[in-house]
Formats: sequence, C-alpha cells, structure tokens
Amino acid sequence: MGNIAIDGPAGAGKSTIAKMVAKELGFVYVDTGAMYRAMALFMINSGVSADDSAKISETCKDADITIKYENNEQVVYLNGENVNGKIRTEEVGNMASASSVNGDVRKKLVELQQKLAKTTDVVMDGRDIGTVVLPDAKLKVYLTASSKVRAERRYKELTAKGVECDINVIEQDIIDRDYRDMHRENSPLMQAQDAILVDSSDMTIQEVAEKIIELYRNK
Ligand code: DC
Repeated sequence: MGNIAIDGPAGAGKSTIAKMVAKELGFVYVDTGAMYRAMALFMINSGVSADDSAKISETCKDADITIKYENNEQVVYLNGENVNGKIRTEEVGNMASASSVNGDVRKKLVELQQKLAKTTDVVMDGRDIGTVVLPDAKLKVYLTASSKVRAERRYKELTAKGVECDINVIEQDIIDRDYRDMHRENSPLMQAQDAILVDSSDMTIQEVAEKIIELYRNK
C-alpha cells in the first residue's frame, strides 16, 4: 500500500483519471485544486485583491478549510460551509491561480494535504504533490497532453454547454497558464525526478487510468 501522486498542467485530465484510479484501488481521491479554490473564494468574499500578497497572507489565517467525504465525493468546507457548488467558476479559478502563488496559503494547505495522506491511502492530484506534498509517494505520475489537445477538450466541453468560444483563444489561455504555473517562485509545476511521464494526447481516459493502475501494481 502507498500513496499515488498525480501532477500536471490544467486540462490534462488529472481529476477524472485520479478519481477512476482511486475507485479501482479503493483509495481516497484528494483534489488539492479544490482546496486552493476554497481559499480563493474566501479571498473574494473578504474583498481581497489578487495582487495584494500581504493581505492574502493575513487573510488566509482566518480561513478554516476542511475536507469530508459524503457519498464517496470530496466535500470542501470553508468555515463550516459546504462550498463545492461555488468553487468551479472562472472568477474563483482566476483568483486561485493568483492566490496559490502565496507561500502562507501554500503552507497551510500543504499541511492539510499531508495530514490527510497520513491517515489513509490516497490518490492526490495537483501541481506539487510529487515534489513537495508527498515526496515519498509510492507512485508519482506527471500527466500531460499537448496544449492543442487540451484546448480541443476544453472547447468540446464548453460548446456542449452551449458556450460560444474561440479555440485559438482557449489554447493561448492554456499556454499562458502553464507558463505561470511553471515559473512561479513557490512550488512551481514540474515533473519530480522519480515521476513517470504519461502523455495523454493520444490516449483515452480509460487507457490512461489502466496505465496508472498497471504502473502502481508493478511497483
Ligand atoms: O486544478 P485546479 O484548476 O482546480 O487548480 C486551481 C488552481 O490552484 C490552479 O491555478 C493551480 C492551483 N493549484 C496549486 O497551485 N497547487 C495544487 N496542488 C493544486 C492547484
């Protein structure tokens, strides 16, 4: 037994795949992005501006973020309130991208993530799981896909919801976000030395999940 760390850029399919792997192995899936999103929601509700890092450091002390599992789903509580229905917006995503560069925010959430992984076997996904949060994970996967394929996936999702969008704009957003995630000072997104690279550009979700389960069983 042991933990699985899955890192990679936005849109590579981490959360869908991590959920499938966790279900198959009977592990608990931990979505760390949701914790950064809950923290971002707290910043928005507190009227903190994304570029005021001193205020973000001060405000994050008052955010009590906890995780519970209800009907096999991760539920994020922010100061006692279930915020799952409020964290999947563009506004929260943008604030999460900005506030997650803050060292005090990261320290607080990394401690929570490490505590969770001590009590049970987890499949945890994020940006710094293999490098910072779970350096001793039994299996580390760096899951990626080309920006073109990720843009196509996002485009399909949005058009299926009836949202009009331009695929070139989406791809450029993805490229910009990758750059920000990979070049920030605190815990930048990178492949851990002992992580296995899985490129999902030409694979189905099922194939990727099977590959990760096979990698884990062969460890
Ligand atoms: O994976 P996501 O889109 O839900 O993540 C939201 C933001 O949180 C994203 O901009 C990157 C950040 N994040 C992070 O810095 N470290 C993590 N372990 C997970 C997410």
